[in-house]
Amino acid sequence: MIPTPPRKVIFDTDPGVDDAMALYYALAHPCIDVVGITTTFGNVFVEQAAANVLYLCALAGRSIPVTLGASHPLFKNAESPPAFIHGADGLGNLPRRSNTPGRPDPGSSAQFIVDTVRASPGEITLVAVGPLGNLALALQLAPELPTLVREVILMGGTVLESGNVSPVAEANIWNDPHAADAVFTAGWPLTMVGLDVTHQVILPLSLFKTIANHHQHVATDTLYHAVQFYSAFYSQHDALVGKVNGCYGHDVLAFVVLTNPELFTLQSGRVRVAVDGLAQGQTMMQRKNVVYPQHGWHDDIPHTQVCLQVQADACKAVVTSTLMRDWLQTPLTS
Ligand code: RIB
Ligand code: CA
Repeated sequence: MIPTPPRKVIFDTDPGVDDAMALYYALAHPCIDVVGITTTFGNVFVEQAAANVLYLCALAGRSIPVTLGASHPLFKNAESPPAFIHGADGLGNLPRRSNTPGRPDPGSSAQFIVDTVRASPGEITLVAVGPLGNLALALQLAPELPTLVREVILMGGTVLESGNVSPVAEANIWNDPHAADAVFTAGWPLTMVGLDVTHQVILPLSLFKTIANHHQHVATDTLYHAVQFYSAFYSQHDALVGKVNGCYGHDVLAFVVLTNPELFTLQSGRVRVAVDGLAQGQTMMQRKNVVYPQHGWHDDIPHTQVCLQVQADACKAVVTSTLMRDWLQTPLTS
């Protein structure tokens, strides 16, 4: 049987501890080829996001193009990064950092997305796990983009599960609701991995200790340190998570749905985003096939594939087996 080539991915991220989990999952998985990493504000300022991505890749022995992206929302006021969740540095306040090479490529993240997708039409998957400004700006640069990407997978939003920044809004969407609505109405093949599924998968801190002990490598040691800080927040603020002393792996599920779609139950429907008021950042899904008098729900609004259920134990097993693979290279530290 001819092996299928790895899926070419541009990873759009605001690392962020669960972003770091997702990055390492992608680097470890044989079916994923990360061809570029675009960064955005969100969990940290965008400059810190780029520094974190370069650092994490260097620790893992990888050199991948990294660009600086959106530093603020398209229209709404920027919020302060949630240092209480991810640490002021975005990686759990690392006590020290090794000297590592690498700097962001020139050019914006939006331009990198456009150039890379145009160079390989039909081949690039965008996996976005932060606020969606880079994808929205890329759509402004290249309105034909939705016809050129293979698919878009985003971690964000929530339909049935309560939000995490308001009763109805999830952080990535809330941080830039105008950008998110542009992404949900662009017409590209789009899968939404929201809190409906990420809140079903609690990753124990002990899992990352096992992975670190197995590899005895600075990359997984660093990931474990970051997850310790991140798990402390979730274990203190969420009774369910506190029971296992763990955390939500949010972003890593955006890659698991790519590698193991059979673990998810999806529903197709129009998704729009509330951009202001009390519901700001709400991902509103049309789940019944009816015609509404309210504008904004008419026929030419495209559908999104929304993840509503996940086989949580199997998902955890896939994350574990992937991170336990022999994927780490000699750190690029000086
Ligand atoms: O709501 C969770 C999302 O917001 C995750 O992507 C996390 O990294 C933060 O960006
Ligand atoms: Ca994120």
